[in-house]
Amino acid sequence: MGESPIKINNPNDSVESPSPEDQKKMEAAYKQMKRKMAIAEMGKGIKHKIMVLSGKGGVGKSTVATGLALSLAQQGLKVGLLDIDITGPNVPKMMGLDGRRLHVESGTIHPAQGHLGVKVISMAFLLEDEDTPVVWRGPIKLGAIQQFIGDVNWGELDYLIIDFPPGTSDEPLTVAQNLPDIDGMVVVTTPQDVALLDSRKSITFAKSLKVNVIGIIENMSGYTIRGKAAPGAELELSGPSGKMIEVITDQSGAWSATLDIFKSGGGEKTAEEFGVPFLGKLPFDPGFVRGCDDGVHRIVSEPEGPSSIAFSKVVAEIQSIVEQDNGSEELEII
Ligand SMILES: Nc1ncnc2c1ncn2[C@@H]1O[C@H](COP(=O)(O)OP(=O)(O)OP(=O)(O)O)[C@@H](O)[C@H]1O
Ligand SMILES: [Mg+2]
Repeated sequence: MGESPIKINNPNDSVESPSPEDQKKMEAAYKQMKRKMAIAEMGKGIKHKIMVLSGKGGVGKSTVATGLALSLAQQGLKVGLLDIDITGPNVPKMMGLDGRRLHVESGTIHPAQGHLGVKVISMAFLLEDEDTPVVWRGPIKLGAIQQFIGDVNWGELDYLIIDFPPGTSDEPLTVAQNLPDIDGMVVVTTPQDVALLDSRKSITFAKSLKVNVIGIIENMSGYTIRGKAAPGAELELSGPSGKMIEVITDQSGAWSATLDIFKSGGGEKTAEEFGVPFLGKLPFDPGFVRGCDDGVHRIVSEPEGPSSIAFSKVVAEIQSIVEQDNGSEELEII
């Protein structure tokens, strides 16, 4: 960053010199203005910015955010993933970047390259070690987020996906206030009533932030089991609620059945209730849990598998919504 152009104590000036406090305030304002300019400049290189939120923790936001990023990258698009979660960041794990540190060069933060070339910046890159949580007071945390927004060199991106901690906290507010031209947020929910109730809060929150709701994704929606029996045979399975499910085998004897472990269809109902798009269902897949542990996301380990296909359908919905608006409006520097 260059030197402040603010003049201090010029003896030839008849104007009174600013007090040290005023000087400090002027310098802070100048820094803030430079950051806003940097953010506006950076924003120009990013075509679409999408926030991923949920009202409730553990519904799979980070799994979905990384999945969306990877699914877009599978199409050959340039994608960035910003992980704002300071307290429980596991995006680096899922992207095979566990243990990375922040790479700073000439005052600019450079993203790490994850699977499929996705550029990743995570608050976890600031951790001394995995077991030491970052305990930051509000203003420091929010200052760090502003810095992450303004000082990262993303280069040209088709999509920037932003993952948040759960709930309607200060983090999304700070991002919404500092990052211009956000396309909107996707709300992740599971089919349980309590998660759905919280996703309703997220939608109300989005409205209060004046951020567009792109739509709702229902995660962990159903668990599909597959098997083989005599061709054409009719089978009966005992479902999660004890109800019998009839299954018919195909000509080769293969059969599959989807079990609604946590009910189903609630995401769609909430979307309808709030008049926002329903973006689709993602299956319950134990491969996501393994992917988190061994650092290879399901989309990377099984690019043609049912979960990857489900992600690509959701991504197609998102693209059709955000690409209707080509994002060519002029940026306003406030
Ligand atoms: N569709 C799925 N099928 C099976 N397991 C899943 C699925 N989605 C997420 N999980 C698992 O659920 C756990 C929580 O997921 P994740 O960390 O993505 O949730 P989160 O909403 O980001 O959590 P937090 O609120 O703590 O940020 C992880 O172990 C993850 O592997
Ligand atoms: Mg998370």
